[in-house]
Amino acid sequence: MKKPWGGRFEKDTDAMVERFTESVSFDTRLYKEDIRGSIAHAEMLARAGLIAETELAAICQGLLEIEGEIEAGEFEFQVSLEDVHMNIEAALISRTGDAGRKLHTARSRNDQVAADVRMWCRAAVDETVDLLTDCQRALVEKAVEYRDLIVPGFTHMQHAQPVLLAHVLLAYVEMLARDRDRLADCRRRLNVSPLGACAMAGTALPTDPESTADALGFDAVFANSIDAVSDRDFVIELVADMSLVAMHLSRLAEEWLIWAALEFNFLDLDEAFCTGSSIMPQKKNADVLELIRGKCGRVYGDLVSLLTMFKGLPLAYNRDMQEDKVALFDAVDTVRDSLAIAAALVRTAAFKTDNIARACVAGHMDATALADYLVGRGVPFREAHGIVGRAVRTAAAQGAQLQELSLDELRSFSDEIGEDVYGVLGAQNCVESYRSHGSSAPALVAARLEEWQTRLAED
Ligand code: ARG
Repeated sequence: MKKPWGGRFEKDTDAMVERFTESVSFDTRLYKEDIRGSIAHAEMLARAGLIAETELAAICQGLLEIEGEIEAGEFEFQVSLEDVHMNIEAALISRTGDAGRKLHTARSRNDQVAADVRMWCRAAVDETVDLLTDCQRALVEKAVEYRDLIVPGFTHMQHAQPVLLAHVLLAYVEMLARDRDRLADCRRRLNVSPLGACAMAGTALPTDPESTADALGFDAVFANSIDAVSDRDFVIELVADMSLVAMHLSRLAEEWLIWAALEFNFLDLDEAFCTGSSIMPQKKNADVLELIRGKCGRVYGDLVSLLTMFKGLPLAYNRDMQEDKVALFDAVDTVRDSLAIAAALVRTAAFKTDNIARACVAGHMDATALADYLVGRGVPFREAHGIVGRAVRTAAAQGAQLQELSLDELRSFSDEIGEDVYGVLGAQNCVESYRSHGSSAPALVAARLEEWQTRLAED
């Protein structure tokens, strides 16, 4: 088949080259953006007097028919036509003749693909933000369901201080809020139209890039035609943002895997979200969480592949850039799937409150509260730290918790300790004693929870 660019060639393209250089096996996903972009471009050409109104009508009708065929699965994409852009254009020409042949006036695939990818990324951002919001809602719903449940808080994977489960879940809500914010910021920078830059230098023809930008919902037009066709910062930025989302989900997955392990036994995952073993009949595995964690690596891989792909590229468009879509689509798909399944898994999970309550009794998590109690009685903190450390050592040797020591035993470590000390020891008392900003103080957690409920109801 004669290539659209076949004019200066005598020979046919080698079949191996066709296979090596094609992108139609992955870029057909851009067909909607491509058709929208072409319609906006054709409308601009008509306004500029570069094509006739009848030609515009034929182009628009042809493109919409092609879109219908693609959607019905009736369109035959051909590898010999390289990419989605040339496949659609060739189909348009075979339908409309000269009108179709005029569509590519004052346009290059270089500005065309950049525009398509920007529009695709814009929609991907919007969908991902919605999925993030839903994941936040799932976490908030769980926090409400277990609003009074106290869990061990960990540092270094060791019992640290008791906190409300709601406080832990809201920590993830805050993370995902930053992800949403980053994506909104990324959207602002990517929503700039490159159309009109043509191959790299612009054109001698009387085009109107403002109007195509406007028609396609872009907020601004490129400033430099060379930058417009060579910039893929927005792809890298989006995949970097996706990497952070994946990292956040991976951390949640890791935490929940630990909580679901028999040694912790804090968490009961819904059977519909677990899988079994082909040999061990008793197994109920949390493979979904493991894959959320594992797929994060894949998204990082996409980011590194993009960064590497672009690091040595001179201006302007280079064919290397075609590979950007492989990484972009993979990262976006992976994160979207992970978000959707994470939200469903969170919604269906149950916490084992008895086991958690037992765990809250262990590990001397009230030691810091006892030190604060001594500080309240004028003991310098470092001295209080030492006193409590000795008390913990004694309690641990007896296999007891601090609150199980008698007042006399406790007073042997410091005269400042009084009967009221039992009002600060124990997980419940500890949590109720918190009052500092952003802490796990029940009133503060309840207020933040309510704030999130209101915000997420509006989003
Ligand atoms: N398939 C190409 C890509 O995805 C489209 C642009 C090709 N431009 C060119 N001059 N060969 O980047």
